[in-house]
Amino acid sequence: MTEDSRFVLDPATHDLHGDNAKLREAGPLVPVTAEGVPAWAATRHATLLTVLTHPSLSRELRHWSPDARDRMPPGTAIDRIVTDTSLLNAEGEVHRRLRAPLAAAFGARRLERLRPRIEALTANLIDRLAERPPDEPVDLRLEFAYPLPREVISELIGIPAAHQDELHRLTDAVAQVGGSPDDTPDLRKALLDLLDQIIDERRDTPGEDLITDLFALREQDGGRLSEDELFATIELLFIAGHVTTVNLITNAIGALLNVPGQLDLLRSGQCPVSAAVEETLRWDSPIAYFPMRYAVRDIEIDGVHLHAGEPVLACFAAAGRDPDQYGDDAGRFDLTRPPSTHLSFGHGPHFCLGAPLARLEAEVALTALFEAFPQIKAAAPAEELAPLDTLLGNSTRSMPVLLGP
Ligand code: HEM
Repeated sequence: MTEDSRFVLDPATHDLHGDNAKLREAGPLVPVTAEGVPAWAATRHATLLTVLTHPSLSRELRHWSPDARDRMPPGTAIDRIVTDTSLLNAEGEVHRRLRAPLAAAFGARRLERLRPRIEALTANLIDRLAERPPDEPVDLRLEFAYPLPREVISELIGIPAAHQDELHRLTDAVAQVGGSPDDTPDLRKALLDLLDQIIDERRDTPGEDLITDLFALREQDGGRLSEDELFATIELLFIAGHVTTVNLITNAIGALLNVPGQLDLLRSGQCPVSAAVEETLRWDSPIAYFPMRYAVRDIEIDGVHLHAGEPVLACFAAAGRDPDQYGDDAGRFDLTRPPSTHLSFGHGPHFCLGAPLARLEAEVALTALFEAFPQIKAAAPAEELAPLDTLLGNSTRSMPVLLGP
């Protein structure tokens, strides 16, 4: 990698899909600077697939060349992800040991038990929306897409009611919904401190939830899961488990309300709601760019030479609109496409653990919303909605709609 002529990815100025078209055009692996960090960007579907499964690319931070790592600006979103000590940044045996206990929590049985709760929480939110004047714009990101995944993950993890208000206040700010992004690092620390306190308290009050399961497991297998690992896992689940799903639900509502004919396909039953969810994941991936994997030795991918220690950024939103994978109309949102091959939940050993949960939540939410409000329409043109001020997430800061009578 050379220091000059890098494509700059800057959350303050970027036009995600426009930038992504240029990145794909520039090559399968493109030198970029992301939040000031030099990296290779994997821009096309086939290359991203190779990157996500390459045996010589690792998520372990120790493989990042130390001089580049030391130059990483602290406190950025990339910094937070790459220094996370959970399974996300573990490989091999350690990764398997950390991931195995979570499989049951996110498996089909637990999810089927959760479904009625998700439906009830959704119905509550819809009831509250139905009380609003039908001709007044309502922000569905804030009042629908956001609270649902947060409630669900809180229940799944086992956040006691007494802490929910404070936790909600902090997550609101961290997720840049109702809080100033400038405050985020401090608020984020406060959020993690509160989560630590909650986990600590839950030691002595077992319930039907993930914190209890993980403590029990720790007892049973003689502490193979260290206490730090247990805390990092729960924190990852709490944060990964709702911000991305908020983006998915928001983006799906935006696409269905703005792209002509698509909502009719859903309403007439010609396309199932799962098609809307999968097409949103492809066309408007909830994650834009995701850090990082490091070359553990010199390697070549698609004709590009990577030196040992160099980092690679996964461009999920760019891969979702790759014409080589989806044809010349890759940029069109179309529910009638054949079943999607998108990579928006990742691929290989780090494939998203929460994918079935996110899909279930989005399907329940969209079904209930469009059934409850047959006249719903967008209250502002899609191009006027401000994007999130982050490289990682891809969504708009609001989703104003008119719910109608
Ligand atoms: C991993 C996307 C929702 C938990 C990932 C990865 C992606 C992703 C792309 C792989 C990262 C990589 O390989 O570099 C998404 C999207 C979501 C979503 C788009 C919503 C639409 C969730 C939910 C949870 C969750 C609801 C949990 C409650 C995780 C965990 C990992 C992960 C624990 C790490 C797995 C590992 O490293 O083995 N997610 N995710 N995600 N996701 Fe999700």
